[in-house]
Amino acid sequence: MSKTWFVTGAARGLGLEIARAVRAAGHNIVATGRDVAALEAALGPGDARLLHLPLDVRDATEAQAAARAAEQRFGAVDVLVNNAGYGLFGYFEETTPADAEAQFAVNLFGMMHVCRAVLPGMRAAGRGLIFNISSIAGFRGIPGGSLLCASKHAVEGFSESLAREVEPFDVTVTLIEPGIFRTDFLSPQSMRFASGAAGDYAQASRDLRQSYQARDGKQPGDPAKLAAALLTLAEAEKPPARFLAGSDAVQLMEARIASLEAELEAWRVLSQSMNAD
Ligand SMILES: NC(=O)c1ccc[n+]([C@@H]2O[C@H](COP(=O)([O-])OP(=O)(O)OC[C@H]3O[C@@H](n4cnc5c(N)ncnc54)[C@H](OP(=O)(O)O)[C@@H]3O)[C@@H](O)[C@H]2O)c1
Repeated sequence: MSKTWFVTGAARGLGLEIARAVRAAGHNIVATGRDVAALEAALGPGDARLLHLPLDVRDATEAQAAARAAEQRFGAVDVLVNNAGYGLFGYFEETTPADAEAQFAVNLFGMMHVCRAVLPGMRAAGRGLIFNISSIAGFRGIPGGSLLCASKHAVEGFSESLAREVEPFDVTVTLIEPGIFRTDFLSPQSMRFASGAAGDYAQASRDLRQSYQARDGKQPGDPAKLAAALLTLAEAEKPPARFLAGSDAVQLMEARIASLEAELEAWRVLSQSMNAD
């Protein structure tokens, strides 16, 4: 059955691959992005099943306008993909409050703006699926990635809580936790670095930048395969609460679970000794 998908950040990277896959599968697609001309260049001109809409996710008013325009054209949105995001890298002490606010404005608050805009329509329809694109940075800390990790960990807490709130309305929230995928994520166009003084971290910071630049274009994950996986998940009777995307993500989650279990056991007795006598 044909569905209506709404994708943020659809002009490039993973968002573009998702939009292409959704379109190829015969669904309606609301492709949103900061630059409508870029959306048209990437996906072709709009037609009966393709609606391009301007949406900078930092703008709550624009998110509301996009959701209303999508509903006006196609009725309720069936699948929302909160994909727009970027990584801000740098050691915490070289980041500034403005860096932190900018990272959260897109990765977390942008996602919230779009959820707020789309959820009323999903609740009214009594159905809906939201894919919130998190990351391996959403379940483990990475040195030189504290702001990105903080924003993606926040995405996880937000999404898990939201999932329980909207379940009674038959709306599902699924976290997607990609490993490293070959998109523009590590390109100069997308990646941002800390804007404060590096101080004692100067050498480490230079090494960090070089190591990410060296990985650009050589990432193992194929974004077209991740896009295809989202279509599979959307057809599942019960999509999962979280989905690990990529063999690297699976390996890192296994290591994370093992280290959590080991630490829990090592300190179990002290942890459990806190009840009032
Ligand atoms: N690639 C990876 O290795 C990887 C790993 C884990 C998680 N992820 C997550 O996957 C998602 C997609 O990233 P990607 O890999 O596809 O990176 P990408 O190729 O750099 O694409 C990022 C997309 O986000 C959009 N975007 C950024 N800020 C925006 C804003 N304020 N409003 C609307 N759109 C905005 C960009 O639009 P513009 O063209 O307007 O800049 C672009 O379409 C992100 O949430 C990222 O954190 C990626």
